[in-house]
Amino acid sequence: MQTNKRPENMERITTTAQAEAFIAQQLDALRAQIGDKKVLLALSGGVDSSVVAALLIKAVGKQLVCVHVNHGLLRKGEPEQVVKVFRDEMDANLIYVDAGDRFLDKLAGVSEPEQKRKIIGAEFIRVFEEEARKLEGIEFLAQGTIYPDILESGPVKAHHNVGGLPEDLKFELVEPLKFLFKDEVRVVGKALGLPDNMVYRQPFPGPGLGVRCLGAITRDRLEAVRESDAILREEFSKNGLEGKVWQYFTVVPDFKSTGVKDGKRSFDWPVILRAVNTRDAMTATVENVPFSLLQHITQRITSEVPGVNRVLFDLTPKPTGTIEWE
Ligand code: XMP
Repeated sequence: MQTNKRPENMERITTTAQAEAFIAQQLDALRAQIGDKKVLLALSGGVDSSVVAALLIKAVGKQLVCVHVNHGLLRKGEPEQVVKVFRDEMDANLIYVDAGDRFLDKLAGVSEPEQKRKIIGAEFIRVFEEEARKLEGIEFLAQGTIYPDILESGPVKAHHNVGGLPEDLKFELVEPLKFLFKDEVRVVGKALGLPDNMVYRQPFPGPGLGVRCLGAITRDRLEAVRESDAILREEFSKNGLEGKVWQYFTVVPDFKSTGVKDGKRSFDWPVILRAVNTRDAMTATVENVPFSLLQHITQRITSEVPGVNRVLFDLTPKPTGTIEWE
């Protein structure tokens, strides 16, 4: 019987040598479990699914079929990076599904945050199911389950439950990371040769930018979230805050304010910046971002992002604010 308890004698993986030993042991185990059969994986490009993909590519090569569902709510450059790393560099069998329009159509006019989450989760399963049905001979489903998911600790996991595939698509599970903590997954990812910005990336919610484009999502405001987020990330990276700050992102609310642009009155959206530190996401403190950097980011966002005339910095710790705005 499969156990869900981390073996007591399992050492913490902190060094490359330990990661390499883990990888060697997992390659044997995966080959023994999968044999010459096919295995399916939903590859989001997040740390966990990326590490599972890299392990399985090493273990069974083209017997792995990765499906990357682009729900249109990913950060700038993310879908392209998944294709570049896994298809171009690792020669993986990767199906890329551009489902952005489908998700945005389903979300049109929906403003209630939990309803938005449900629609995104359900649509994700539907798209993945459609792809799974097109494939023949799949016997296994790989998942990036990690130990905290099993322990169900913290609020991150609570959001993950979006339901599963229907009964007739219940494949045998392959979960090579299920006894690892996040920091161990990162060490293993690094040893597998994944790029740093994939291995050390900040947490990104499943519903993606959808919960940062507040209220009913519109394409123009969604682009304002994506472009402003890209500027924030670029500036944090240039100024040594990437990897130091736990989570940082931008939010675009669904109201406008008056401003002046090019000598004329404007009526445009604000962008809210959020940058927080935490251990377990239950409580969080606000990063003390240098004022001059905030001013520089404000200048860039208001001049480079269409439809934006103000930038605000969120000074609220958790509690009373949650990390996300929805
Ligand atoms: P909050 O906003 O509740 O967020 O303080 C705590 C952590 O959970 C992430 N989060 C989510 N992750 N699906 C996810 O996978 C979600 O729907 C979701 N909502 C929030 C959030 O980014 C933060 O890291």
